[in-house]
Amino acid sequence: MRVRPITTIKTVVAAIEGAGTGIKLFTLADPDHWELPPFKPGAHIDLHLPSGLVRTYSLCNEPADNARYVIAVKREAEGRGGSRALHDEVGIGNVIGVSLPRGGLEPGAGIARHVFIAGGIGVTPFLSMARHLARTGDADFTLHLVVRQEAPLASYLAPLIDAGRIVVHYTSRGGRPDLASLVGEGGSKTLVACCGPESMIDDFERVTATWPAANVHIERFVAPPPVIDPDAKPFMLSLARTGTEIQVRAGQTMLAALQEGGIDISTSCCGGICGACKVGWLEGKPVHRDRILSPYERERYLMVCVAGSEADRLVLDL
Ligand code: FES
Repeated sequence: MRVRPITTIKTVVAAIEGAGTGIKLFTLADPDHWELPPFKPGAHIDLHLPSGLVRTYSLCNEPADNARYVIAVKREAEGRGGSRALHDEVGIGNVIGVSLPRGGLEPGAGIARHVFIAGGIGVTPFLSMARHLARTGDADFTLHLVVRQEAPLASYLAPLIDAGRIVVHYTSRGGRPDLASLVGEGGSKTLVACCGPESMIDDFERVTATWPAANVHIERFVAPPPVIDPDAKPFMLSLARTGTEIQVRAGQTMLAALQEGGIDISTSCCGGICGACKVGWLEGKPVHRDRILSPYERERYLMVCVAGSEADRLVLDL
């Protein structure tokens, strides 16, 4: 098999703390105490678990603190197995390979006001940004955390709650808050972001439907069901770096075709929401279908787990 190099960093589990019902904070560090590769607030890493599973988590610590990566994991008994493996099988001192951090929000990119809306454990993608903004004062922000009756990561969040930067909304007491009033007025200097259950994301999308795409950010935990295009036609992938040609059959994913062709691609969600399988494209007309790339990024990249092609040939930067 020809292998596309996948960069993972060796880390060890340096600490594990309980952080609310069914939630643990894992601290990963370099085995020799070197700094870890830098990251942007809200960046993600893929954990390559000892069982072979690859799962994506948001970094919760501040980018300035890159001696460690901190992730929060809620044990999902009915999930795909990653959180159960971490909770039940991983202990202090275990070695875990992690990907280079990717994604995240660009602090200070002309944004004066941030509004983060999180449902429950959906707070995790916004924690590093909240801490970064609270420390630097680069921009105003409020993080609205919607929970039924118990806030996750309570002791971790306490300083920001006490400072009024995180506002907790308890639906068991006051019902669901009105997202339109939490989000407020749009504008080029405001960035709004949401992570939570699908019903919350649907409401958020409705409320921000007329906002510029660049000012709205959504994080998803669960990939939407795969899109089956009954009219999909076969197409050819050309790999620019090697000249290899790989046929994608009608109804087949690009990812499956690449894997059949002996190209190893990093994956985690296989549903277009995590960014693990991002590949550059050079010529052709991709059909994107992911939920993560911005319009600007789509001009250069695609997610091979969900993307298709409108043209009969697509050139990838592989
Ligand atoms: S594997 Fe997650 S976006 Fe493709």
